Amino acid sequence: MDIKEICLRALTYQDIDKTLQWHNDTNIVDFYSGHPFPVNLEMERKWYEKILTSDFPTSVFGIEHVKDQKLIGITVLRDINMINRNAECGIYIGDKAYLGRGLATDALELIVRFSFMKLGLNRIFAIIRADNISSIKLFEKIGFEREGILREHVFKDGTFIDQIIFGLLRKQIDEIS
Ligand SMILES: CC(C)(COP(=O)(O)OP(=O)(O)OC[C@H]1O[C@@H](n2cnc3c(N)ncnc32)[C@H](O)[C@@H]1OP(=O)(O)O)[C@@H](O)C(=O)NCCC(=O)NCCS
Repeated sequence: MDIKEICLRALTYQDIDKTLQWHNDTNIVDFYSGHPFPVNLEMERKWYEKILTSDFPTSVFGIEHVKDQKLIGITVLRDINMINRNAECGIYIGDKAYLGRGLATDALELIVRFSFMKLGLNRIFAIIRADNISSIKLFEKIGFEREGILREHVFKDGTFIDQIIFGLLRKQIDEIS
């Protein structure tokens, strides 16, 4: 396995100021969570309580830049289904200084590997806005395939926008160590 600049780790309460800021950043929220509501410290704390006391069926990882010892983003598996062995995957780079450096690609590779090799999942999918070019490039680069379109599924600033479902199957991945 190649050495990566980043690793995935559990979040801790020390991360809360950073993630609170990111969860109010429209560049992230519009594409990642999709809801238009502001988040306050109390709501963020409640979210931490939930994810830190139970990691199932949602599993949240901080993306840590190893050399800089800095949290730079988050990747998540939602609605992990151990009967059908699938989950939805999401990712964002919150610290803009680390955007466009291939680190989201590395983090997505790690969460894919975790999903297939540690959780034993068979399929991971992502639902991505049709106008989210960087995200589409990212998921296609890893091998996710376009499976379908949710027509006008998102309402944003007065317009309905399509979303694309991308899926990756365990059998598509040849070399997972
Ligand atoms: C999507 C996101 C995680 C990508 O982060 P990133 O740091 O740009 O990712 P990487 O550097 O690993 O690049 C991934 C690919 O996207 C391409 N890309 C990145 N930004 C781009 C842009 N503005 N336009 C076109 N392509 C872009 C890169 O070129 C790269 O492909 P390549 O290696 O073939 O050149 C980041 O833009 C983000 O956090 N967006 C907001 C949240 C979001 O949309 N999440 C995804 C939905 S779950």
